Amino acid sequence: MPNHKTLTILFLILFLSLQAIIGQENKITIHVNKAKDTISKHIYGHFAEHLGRGIYDGFYVGKTSEIPNINGIRKDVVEALRELEIPVLRWPGGCFAEQYQWRDGIGPVKDRPLVVNTFWGGVTEDNSFGTHEFLELCELLQTEPYIAVNIASGTVKDAYQWVEYVTSDKDSEITRLRSKNGRERPWDVKFWGIGNENWGCGGSMNAEYYTNVFKRFSTYCNAEFKIASGGIYDDLEWTKTFMTGIKGTPGYLNIAHGLSYHYYTIVNNWEVKGSATDFVENEWFKSMQNTLKMEGNLEDHIAIMDKHDPDNTIALIADEWGTWYDVEPGTNPGFLYQQNTLRDALVAALGLNIFNNHARRIKMANIAQTVNVLQAMILTRGNQMVKTPTFHVFKMYKVHQDALHLPSEVTIQNYKNDNSEIPALSVSASRDKNKNVNITIANVDPKRNLPTSIEIPGIENWGTITASIITSDKMNALNEFGKEELVQIQKFSDYRMNTSKIELNIPSKSVVLLSISDN
Ligand code: AHR
Repeated sequence: MPNHKTLTILFLILFLSLQAIIGQENKITIHVNKAKDTISKHIYGHFAEHLGRGIYDGFYVGKTSEIPNINGIRKDVVEALRELEIPVLRWPGGCFAEQYQWRDGIGPVKDRPLVVNTFWGGVTEDNSFGTHEFLELCELLQTEPYIAVNIASGTVKDAYQWVEYVTSDKDSEITRLRSKNGRERPWDVKFWGIGNENWGCGGSMNAEYYTNVFKRFSTYCNAEFKIASGGIYDDLEWTKTFMTGIKGTPGYLNIAHGLSYHYYTIVNNWEVKGSATDFVENEWFKSMQNTLKMEGNLEDHIAIMDKHDPDNTIALIADEWGTWYDVEPGTNPGFLYQQNTLRDALVAALGLNIFNNHARRIKMANIAQTVNVLQAMILTRGNQMVKTPTFHVFKMYKVHQDALHLPSEVTIQNYKNDNSEIPALSVSASRDKNKNVNITIANVDPKRNLPTSIEIPGIENWGTITASIITSDKMNALNEFGKEELVQIQKFSDYRMNTSKIELNIPSKSVVLLSISDN
């Protein structure tokens, strides 16, 4: 029988260990002194393909539309997207890029040919939105264009003449054509994609064949930053073949500047992707788990790139990512129109935290696809428009654009579901040009609030803290046309600051931004 003294000691040990465990839980340390990389603003990029109602109805309604527009481009959509400070917009696809003939989309609209969009719904494409319209859209959005050229059904000459048409300030038949079509000066287009998904819809090529095709096209395209197509997301061999193949080329640094990476978050499998709005917790969990899998996959690609390109000259460009569900009931299956809920907001936050935390190699990401397609920022219906939960995450996260990445170390509880578990919190942090520290945290657990402490060694004088949150009481909360927004950025105040740390209670299924000003 233990005596009183032993019992007291046992109790003390138990108490202290419990305290240690509790103390260890949900602790975030931000390392200001270990900062090295800048988070490229282009990680906050977007993608717009000729797919469903993304371009037509979404961005572009035509000059004669009753919906307020500037040369056919929707005013409300431009105004909303300006809030996000979109740094780069990729166009015209996607798979569509590999059937797109750029000459069909220039000159008087009435003379532009009708073609069939064989990839997306088999609908008639009237080419009324072409190069000039896209570049005008970018000017209105104050965003940098990123154009993907056709290397699967177009020629090398088509490709380099498109680059010349857009960017050259020299006198030539092609630049005269541009002037004739109303644009004297060249546009400043830095980013050019050399193909898209060339393992699949871009010509069913293998890695070795693609690498050679890439080199051929890229040699002739006189562009500043050329992005090669990556393999399917888990095809590490493709990355290896490309990185070794490109290296053997004299002057290879001038022909490849980026390698693309595509990863979509699906719930189950490609046959049954599940509903965007009608789902249970198990499906919520899988969306989070599958998004988090992207991190390990990216690290595998990065390791190969580091091996073959230790100087980090070729960037990894995640130019398609986001959720992909079954289309909304009653809509064209080829149009990929899906609703967007709080679940998408959490997926967006996880993805952006991952990209921020790998900013050394990842220099651009483009969520698919801005308006009315897949994980969109904006949905339109006639003259109505709604900002999705994902929109608000991009708005909240824009503080990270071109800021100095601050590495973070986290000790956190897991979110368990059936027999699986994932970290409940995801974090990224940065310091902006005014020295303010911005920390974005996602709590993917839909049921548990998580008390968390944050320490930032190296900051002597804490300034003021402001905090905001995106959350709702339901996992599938969404913003509906004509109704008050249920999911949006709100003020958050459940935190305390003492001399050495911040303690906060992060609500279940939420995304939080803490901004700490420099004193
Ligand atoms: O974003 C939709 C499609 O997904 C793109 O066209 C293609 O590149 C990818 O497979």
